Amino acid sequence: MHIEFQPIATADKASSYAHVLAAVQALTEGERDAVANMANTAALLRESFRFWWVGFYLVRNGELVLGPFQGPLACTRIAKGKGVCGTAWDKAATILVPDVELFPGHIACSAASRSEIVVPLMRDGVTIGVLDVDSEHLNHFNETDQSYLEQICAVLVAGSDF
Ligand code: SME
Repeated sequence: MHIEFQPIATADKASSYAHVLAAVQALTEGERDAVANMANTAALLRESFRFWWVGFYLVRNGELVLGPFQGPLACTRIAKGKGVCGTAWDKAATILVPDVELFPGHIACSAASRSEIVVPLMRDGVTIGVLDVDSEHLNHFNETDQSYLEQICAVLVAGSDF
């Protein structure tokens, strides 16, 4: 399956996300393998927004284990309730962190990361993993990121065999 994707040059974050969302929809229509779809989703997001780090952690035997990602090396395992990722899992809710230094227990995989958003992957009301996006800029994420990243995760989960 070959999908053409050209990141569009626009200052409009919502338009860029709409483009990525459509691409994820197209990807999952042609492929149901979860690893393949997570890998391409991470690539789409990093190519489109130049985020510092974009990746997935999956729930495996009671902890989060690193999955497909784009960016620098990252921690491989995160316990439930620990860090931003473990907290998003525990609360089954998206967590926006404008300044990682102000988030108690933040896990610094990379010293360059300054702000972060973590979205849970939900299947039948159960968190099966998280999408983590890091920025080297403070206060980089807002409700637009949250809304689109949640939609992207919903399309990814519905269209993949996890
Ligand atoms: N900062 C995350 C850890 C994962 S890395 O940022 C890739 C956390 O606090 O859970």
